[in-house]
Amino acid sequence: MLVEWSESFVVGHSLIDREHRDLVDLVNETQRTMADQSDTQAVSDSLLAILVRTEEHFEHEEQIMRDFSYPFVHKHRTAHQELVRLTTTMIRDAEGQEALLRALNLTASALADHMRGYDGLFCTYLKDNGCFGVI
Ligand SMILES: [Fe+2]
Ligand SMILES: [Fe+2]
Repeated sequence: MLVEWSESFVVGHSLIDREHRDLVDLVNETQRTMADQSDTQAVSDSLLAILVRTEEHFEHEEQIMRDFSYPFVHKHRTAHQELVRLTTTMIRDAEGQEALLRALNLTASALADHMRGYDGLFCTYLKDNGCFGVI
């Protein structure tokens, strides 16, 4: 499942939007790697690379939340931890091409839902509180 970048992902914060775009690109590159080769180790490595980048991105987001005293930082952070836990388990347990594809699809849809949901709410808070002018 390729993730098509759309306006619904745009939250209006330049760093967050750039990192979201990079994650979507990485997911799509991994999809292509998967279609091109049956080397499950290469695909598994690509999935783990997505996870590393995702965790780095979550750290950046959580720092911005703390900087601007976002009142729902705890809930958002819990959602980050849950997403990482779920996708790590799926990837670690995946054996064979089909299971890896399922893990990739699940990771892609969890990320897309999170960007549209939690991240959209967070950036609405930043906008509503005039934070974009000082970032
Ligand atoms: Fe995000
Ligand atoms: Fe987030």
